[in-house]
Amino acid sequence: METTSMMRAVTQDSYGPPSVLHVESIPVPSPAPGEVLVRVRAAGVDAGTWHLTTGRPYLMRAIGFGWSGPKARVRGLGFAGVVEAVGTDAVTTGSAHGRRVGDAVFGSADGALAEFVVAKADDLVGIPDGVGFEEAAALPVSGVTALQAVKRAGIRDGDAVLVLGAAGGVGHLAVQLAVARGGRVTGVCSGPKAPLVRELGAVEVLDYTTTDVLALGRIYDAIIDTAGNRPLAALRRILSPTGSVVLVGGESGGALLGGIQRTFGAALLDRFTQQQLVGLMARERTDDLRELAALAAEGTLRPVIDAVYPLERTAEAVDHVGTGHARAKIVVAP
Ligand SMILES: NC(=O)c1ccc[n+]([C@@H]2O[C@H](COP(=O)([O-])OP(=O)(O)OC[C@H]3O[C@@H](n4cnc5c(N)ncnc54)[C@H](OP(=O)(O)O)[C@@H]3O)[C@@H](O)[C@H]2O)c1
Repeated sequence: METTSMMRAVTQDSYGPPSVLHVESIPVPSPAPGEVLVRVRAAGVDAGTWHLTTGRPYLMRAIGFGWSGPKARVRGLGFAGVVEAVGTDAVTTGSAHGRRVGDAVFGSADGALAEFVVAKADDLVGIPDGVGFEEAAALPVSGVTALQAVKRAGIRDGDAVLVLGAAGGVGHLAVQLAVARGGRVTGVCSGPKAPLVRELGAVEVLDYTTTDVLALGRIYDAIIDTAGNRPLAALRRILSPTGSVVLVGGESGGALLGGIQRTFGAALLDRFTQQQLVGLMARERTDDLRELAALAAEGTLRPVIDAVYPLERTAEAVDHVGTGHARAKIVVAP
């Protein structure tokens, strides 16, 4: 298939509600040496997409994402697709760092909510047989975060593990990864999502609208918190004396700081207690992408896709995620 010179992409010039996102025609980017051009088949929409769209919490503007609008105009990060072209250094051999035209790949690159995206060849991992583009697009941001959370929690065989936000984009993958490590997982979510969390391997599911997990008197060896609306001190009270709590996120931390204070608090307190208190800042690593691909290929990890939106309806997809109550993953298929 011949690559055209223009493509549809989701762009934004100022922060605001998801309606600030527009689909416009822009030039197809060119891969530089060491890069490849990928035809995007699916791109993940996650809480981070919503943050960059709205510019909230305001702290992110101060740390370099842009004051009145995001520096990068095209939205999107995690994606899956097919290599369309290789960088100028690789045209004669047809292979950029082992990636060839026609390879099905996934990974992260700015601007993935578009028909094409340019990515570093070294940052991409092949999609294994049996894993679809939509599932693969769920792995870079949410999967990597879930994997790093589970690793930092140090889950061992037989551990009692609590996952807060167990039906969310990160949470539903964290449940499966914790189960794969031998954890006996209790998942916390709203009632209608309980069957999904049970299906993913949780031995118990608690509906937070009717049950207060903090008041049950149970103690956990590890807590992974993607919901973010319980104080660290309260979580520590239901954690064993040498247990781990990993704070992943949550959307109830305020417009200014967005809950980062809980993350810093954990880092500070961690020095003075035998409990492991981790404020997670996930970073994409290709080793993690490879591990996730292998787990998905063998069926241990199953990204659940709740809805697939066309590129033209990306604003609706971001709005959906922004409610904070999406079920598992939302993706956009250009
Ligand atoms: N630290 C990092 O590096 C990192 C990386 C990625 C994401 N994050 C953050 O992690 C958070 C989760 O991301 P996500 O993509 O998984 O979001 P998501 O898909 O919106 O999932 C959030 C989940 O939280 C649940 N929830 C809301 N209130 C709850 C409560 N009181 N108790 C238990 N669960 C509750 C919701 O479930 P119901 O619908 O059932 O209410 C929803 O499924 C976000 O804040 C995101 O910014 C952090």
